[in-house]
Amino acid sequence: MNIPHIPVLLEEVKAAFSSIQEGIIIDCTLGYGGHSEALLEQNPHIRLIGCDQDEEALAFSKKRLERFGDRVMFHHGNFASVIEQYAHLPIRGILADIGVSSLQLDKKRAWICL
Ligand SMILES: C[S@@+](CC[C@H](N)C(=O)[O-])C[C@H]1O[C@@H](n2cnc3c(N)ncnc32)[C@H](O)[C@@H]1O
Repeated sequence: MNIPHIPVLLEEVKAAFSSIQEGIIIDCTLGYGGHSEALLEQNPHIRLIGCDQDEEALAFSKKRLERFGDRVMFHHGNFASVIEQYAHLPIRGILADIGVSSLQLDKKRAWICL
């Protein structure tokens, strides 16, 4: 798989979430799935909700994270509503890598709506 985006601060993100042993992490800006993949590998009992408003990035991440099966749920849309929507679930961590990926800039498909 040709990965189009290298996540920033990957080791720092892993360290920040390393104590979460169960429950759900929301990745508000799933992008190409680099952070989520690392967290799912590192924390084998957690589940994850990956949100992104870019359908192409979401489709890429669905394939990339396929091997984690039902540990991952996908949410297409703005992260502004995602936390409220899943507030009834055992959310233990929230990640927001706010910005755009270099591929989105290359394709002039970048937008940030907060
Ligand atoms: C820097 S990239 C994330 C990269 C990701 N952490 C990874 O490891 O591949 C930021 C992502 O946030 C998404 N994004 C930006 N604003 C958003 C918003 N308000 N709601 C949902 N997604 C958003 C963009 O579409 C982009 O895919």
